[in-house]
Amino acid sequence: MTSNIESVLKCQNLVKEYQVGPESIRVLDELDFELYPGDWVSVVGASGSGKTTLLNMLAGLDLPSSGHVFWGAEDLALLTESKLGKLRNRHLGFVYQFHHLLAEFTALENVAMPLWIQGVNKKQALEQASKMLVRVGLLKRVNHKPAELSGGERQRVAIARALITKPALVLLDEPTGNLDADTAKEIQSLLQELNAQLQTAFIVVTHDLNFASLAKRTLHLQAGKLHLGEEKAIA
Ligand SMILES: Nc1ncnc2c1ncn2[C@@H]1O[C@H](COP(=O)(O)OP(=O)(O)OP(=O)(O)O)[C@@H](O)[C@H]1O
Ligand SMILES: [Mg+2]
Repeated sequence: MTSNIESVLKCQNLVKEYQVGPESIRVLDELDFELYPGDWVSVVGASGSGKTTLLNMLAGLDLPSSGHVFWGAEDLALLTESKLGKLRNRHLGFVYQFHHLLAEFTALENVAMPLWIQGVNKKQALEQASKMLVRVGLLKRVNHKPAELSGGERQRVAIARALITKPALVLLDEPTGNLDADTAKEIQSLLQELNAQLQTAFIVVTHDLNFASLAKRTLHLQAGKLHLGEEKAIA
């Protein structure tokens, strides 16, 4: 379909088995899929179906039992740990159910952190972080530490931190799972806006089917296989 555009992520024949005592559990069973710039895919499935396992494989945080994951043209299996870490910092952003912000740092510093890790100078990183915080609606909270922010505000900071490096792909694992319904809707609208504005692809794991339906494609993970929902045209 879009074969002339380079995919931001591809997995081929991806298998993950966990060995627990004598038993081997096949959580992911020969998965194949591809994601293109600006795509948005939702992953839904029962608790324990392997959604987090899948994200961990795609992020190169755990090794598949067999099969391949590519970020652009890079086959993760062929990268050294240090190259993988550097590439992850540039190529990927993460948002989890719990924000994982650093408690001792302000919102601004938390968002600037991935740029500092890349070696961007301090002042420039803070300027970019400040712009990103404005973009997620947190102009007045830049100097707050995580404990001085509401749950929804913390997720906004986590989203800003995930996007600050302009990654090709952001992996979101239940990003609104810990929020009340109204705040969850606000965060979902924000993600929708950012996905439309940026060329960043999203993979969103969620139990919320309304949230899932915002995506262009919904993948159902069941018995180790991904079943594709109907493709929707995006206005
Ligand atoms: N390190 C591990 N060792 C053995 N089994 C594991 C390990 N990690 C996960 N599993 C098993 O793999 C399966 C998938 O787990 P995973 O965390 O990916 O599910 P999930 O779909 O994210 O669930 P939830 O919706 O509850 O977050 C589960 O049955 C789990 O018990
Ligand atoms: Mg999970």
